[in-house]
Amino acid sequence: MQFCDLNRQYEAYRDEIDEAVRSVISSSSFINGKEIELLETGLAQYCGAKHAIVCSSGTDALLLAMMAYGLQPGDEVICPAFSFFASASMVSFLNGIPVFVDVSPTNFTIDVDKIEEKITLRTKGIIAVSLFGQCPDFEAINELAEKYGLWVIEDGAQSFGATYFGQKSCTLTEVSTTSFFPAKPLGCYGDGGAVFTSNDELAHLIKQLRSHGQAQRYYHQRIGLNARMDTLQAAILRVKLKHFDQELIIRQTAAEAYTKLLSDWVMTPLVNDGCISSWAQYTIIVKDREKLRVDLASKNIPTAVHYPIPLPAQEAFSHLAHPDEVFKVAGLLSDTVLSLPMHGLITLVEVETVAKAIIESLED
Ligand SMILES: Cc1ncc(COP(=O)(O)O)c(C=O)c1O
Repeated sequence: MQFCDLNRQYEAYRDEIDEAVRSVISSSSFINGKEIELLETGLAQYCGAKHAIVCSSGTDALLLAMMAYGLQPGDEVICPAFSFFASASMVSFLNGIPVFVDVSPTNFTIDVDKIEEKITLRTKGIIAVSLFGQCPDFEAINELAEKYGLWVIEDGAQSFGATYFGQKSCTLTEVSTTSFFPAKPLGCYGDGGAVFTSNDELAHLIKQLRSHGQAQRYYHQRIGLNARMDTLQAAILRVKLKHFDQELIIRQTAAEAYTKLLSDWVMTPLVNDGCISSWAQYTIIVKDREKLRVDLASKNIPTAVHYPIPLPAQEAFSHLAHPDEVFKVAGLLSDTVLSLPMHGLITLVEVETVAKAIIESLED
């Protein structure tokens, strides 16, 4: 069994993907071009955003978003204490200061009730991560941001396709980002990402920043990156986008089955009212994680720990540490979370096999 079976996915769409790749290679249009434009239109339509700007990774998408907002050295940005590194590292990369806030023990996303106490005169924005596929309470986050004049970026790297009260992830804040890393709900065959916005001015700026700050070829209005998406990746994503909703249904069915089979045995993920997760990960909480991992591995069932260290405890952020600060929930989650096999073509037989092996290990 694989944790995220990308081979199975390739086998399912092989003819379409091969044709898409062949078509890009034979056109010799490897940078920009029709495929990029069509993908951007398709992604924007899918989410309901006015603009989708595809780029080189989810990390660069966050960087572009904060560059567009004009983040300056010393500016503070509120970030969750429990997420992938990039959710906070790009703030530091721009010489800003990530200010960590603990997360909710039930859905693992930023604890909205703890944000306000961290806002200072230097706070410029909030990065709210839709972790494992589920959105945090964006109504409350956006309200708070408005009160203090802050921007909010949804880091939707794991939540493309999720919804929050009927509205798609990546349209819940003025600027949102996602990742198309291969194992993400919608993944390409390398690195890729996108920024979403319905603000024309920001979209224009982000497009310039993505390509050396160019207004037109060789005329540079500002300092930018080379953060374009490869055209080959766009062609592959266009094929996968066609099948994406079907894969989301499979993920949802698998998640429901996991919950039904396991909720008497371990803490299973809770989905908030009004939310539909894209189930990038199905993550349980178990006390004796190492024993369970070893038992499952002995039956060829792979698992993963997302994430073993809270962000404030990362060595790279040690200069930010405040000795008296405790991120209790993030610490607890780091010690106990375990992600189970989950992908867009997982079968119910596989889910039952994993659940049975977990129960056997816990009964042991
Ligand atoms: C929450 C989150 N943010 C940002 C990223 C960065 O995306 P990428 O790997 O495409 O740079 C990831 C990817 O793992 C992620 O999970």
